[in-house]
Amino acid sequence: MTTYAEVYNAWKNDPDGFWMKQAEAIDWDRMPTKALFDDNAPLYEWFKDGLVNTCWNAVDRHVEQGRGEQPAIIHDSPVTHTKREITYVELRNRVATLAGALRAKGVEKGDRVIIYMPMIPEALEAMLACARLGAIHSVVFGGFASHELAVRIDDCKPKAIIAASAGIEPGRVVHYKPLLDGAIDQATHKPDFCVIFQREQEVAELKEGRDVNWHGFQYGVQPADCVPVEGDHPAYILYTSGTTGQPKGVIRPTAGHLVALNWSMKNLYNVDPGDVFWAASDVGWVVGHSYICYAPLIHGNTTIVFEGKPVGTPDAGTFWRVISEHNVRSFFTAPTAFRAIKREDPRGEFVRKYDLSCLRTLYLAGERADPDTINWAKEQLQVPVVDHWWQTETGWAITGIPMGIEEMEIKIGSSGVPMPGYDVQILDEAGQPVGPDTLGAVAIKLPLAPGTLPTLWNAEDRFRKSYLDHFPGYYETGDAGMIDADGYLYIMARTDDVINVAGHRLSTGAMEEILAGHPDVAECAVIGVTDQLKGQLPMGFLCLTKGVNREHSEIVKECVARVRDEIGPVAAFKLAVVVDRLPKTRSGKILRATMVKLADGEDFKMPATIDDPAILDEIRAALQPIGYAKG
Ligand code: COA
Ligand code: AMP
Repeated sequence: MTTYAEVYNAWKNDPDGFWMKQAEAIDWDRMPTKALFDDNAPLYEWFKDGLVNTCWNAVDRHVEQGRGEQPAIIHDSPVTHTKREITYVELRNRVATLAGALRAKGVEKGDRVIIYMPMIPEALEAMLACARLGAIHSVVFGGFASHELAVRIDDCKPKAIIAASAGIEPGRVVHYKPLLDGAIDQATHKPDFCVIFQREQEVAELKEGRDVNWHGFQYGVQPADCVPVEGDHPAYILYTSGTTGQPKGVIRPTAGHLVALNWSMKNLYNVDPGDVFWAASDVGWVVGHSYICYAPLIHGNTTIVFEGKPVGTPDAGTFWRVISEHNVRSFFTAPTAFRAIKREDPRGEFVRKYDLSCLRTLYLAGERADPDTINWAKEQLQVPVVDHWWQTETGWAITGIPMGIEEMEIKIGSSGVPMPGYDVQILDEAGQPVGPDTLGAVAIKLPLAPGTLPTLWNAEDRFRKSYLDHFPGYYETGDAGMIDADGYLYIMARTDDVINVAGHRLSTGAMEEILAGHPDVAECAVIGVTDQLKGQLPMGFLCLTKGVNREHSEIVKECVARVRDEIGPVAAFKLAVVVDRLPKTRSGKILRATMVKLADGEDFKMPATIDDPAILDEIRAALQPIGYAKG
């Protein structure tokens, strides 16, 4: 039997040999001559001289190999009370026709296509149709509003946008079409055309000359074949929050993505082709890209597209119903979802209504998994609970417990051990590795594993500045943590202004930019305060322009509405207070970390560099009436 240590060492001793071996599981149009291309270090590329197509590997080859009748996608939608299965052969036909229609309207290899859709199979079909043509998709999460969509349109300049007419959130319909129209109006770049998938719940008005109907524009077209692309060809761009309002366009390279994701399905998630795999996330996030769409399909699994919430659609038993009904083997979600369920069903009464014997392992990621949540999940489901850590930038796990290799010890509080391809180190401020159990910056020795970002879209300087410059020779993750003597990693906090709300990565800087745009706000700060359900919530501090004497509550309301309108409801920005001054260092830096501790009611050391300690008392006085800064 192979052990994790043997696999990890096999990679360390011969990285190229290891990845070329894994590459054999992929169908190549031209096999690459080697794995790593380091001639442009510290920028790296993988399998660059290979030729390959993602859609072929995710769809067509399974039909060729006899999986045509197996469900590729199960759509389970409690919000619309529908369930539907799409087999691999149906998926192949649907995607080939959609790709043919896009091609007929001029979409070619290298063109960008934005996809703005809810959790419906058509979202995956749109992604796969782009992959079929070698077009580069960029999926935008439905919880983002027009402004965020416009920023992405101007950055990646799509030839086409594919959207649905509507999404369904509990209690309200999300009108995608007006949001899309608003975004195109705001953006400088205009797409050549938009494809609108009309849902039964809402039929959107189409703009003559620009919008086409999903079904109508496919009528009578010639299905498209898969277009082989070079190994380093971008498969997609996915925008993620950085420290400013301008999101970072993470590029996913085609070949490394195929090889790494395929490896992860058996070795990390322990599923075999044919098994049902479920990631309860959204296609708008990296988890959705990798583990709702690509990895399960590349590996010949059945994937579930779930359109609902962990609670309220209709109850806290929905997840268990889906697992039991569809025979889910491995299940992946964010700790927030479990906290929401636990809050409604602390004794697990819903859990016991379903036969969950099919489930072998639960995987958690996206935010820190607190021990209470892990223990509750373990006790209720009676399966191992694996916390694993990764980022949009990497596209797959950096650390975890490779259940398909070995059932290693799981240490609660740790997100596991490094996967092959990742040499994870803890560094001090001077960039020197520290010993076991010592807190520091989590960095990864270059090169990163296959499938990880080679650079940022149109922003190589920003890529170098954000990730490579601080610790030469390493990739800076932006997380702080430690590694114990057995090599297990513990992620403790972010080192930048990125916060994590319900497993969603958000930029406090982006919210500050929006608040600063309010005419009455002279200065502001946004921090992430602790929340029992969502892990963190954004909280704004507003200093008003001199002479403004309007009701503070009115200004707060307007600021909350501004963030919702510009970023979108997903920002969950609902807390804000007006204060006279912000605590700063003598050099003028806002003491955000101190403000977080104060708001959370934690003990803190008065920063030696603080300009005026009395400001902290003013902040405390503003927070206590809204239930913060107690203790
Ligand atoms: N389209 C439009 N709006 C969306 C949306 C989408 N796809 N997803 C979320 N929103 C909206 C919500 O309706 C909510 O709006 P509201 O302020 O009008 O209520 C807002 O964005 C905040 O959403 P969320 O933070 O998800 O909170 P919630 O209260 O609606 O739900 C949970 C709480 C715990 C049920 C939910 O956060 C959840 O399922 N979390 C799992 C996290 C997850 O899957 N993360 C992915 C990374 S692995
Ligand atoms: P995203 O790019 O949205 O996936 O967010 C990545 C960030 O989420 C990481 O840099 C961490 O800060 C956090 N994160 C993801 N997974 C974990 C985990 N298992 N434990 C702790 N934090 C996590």
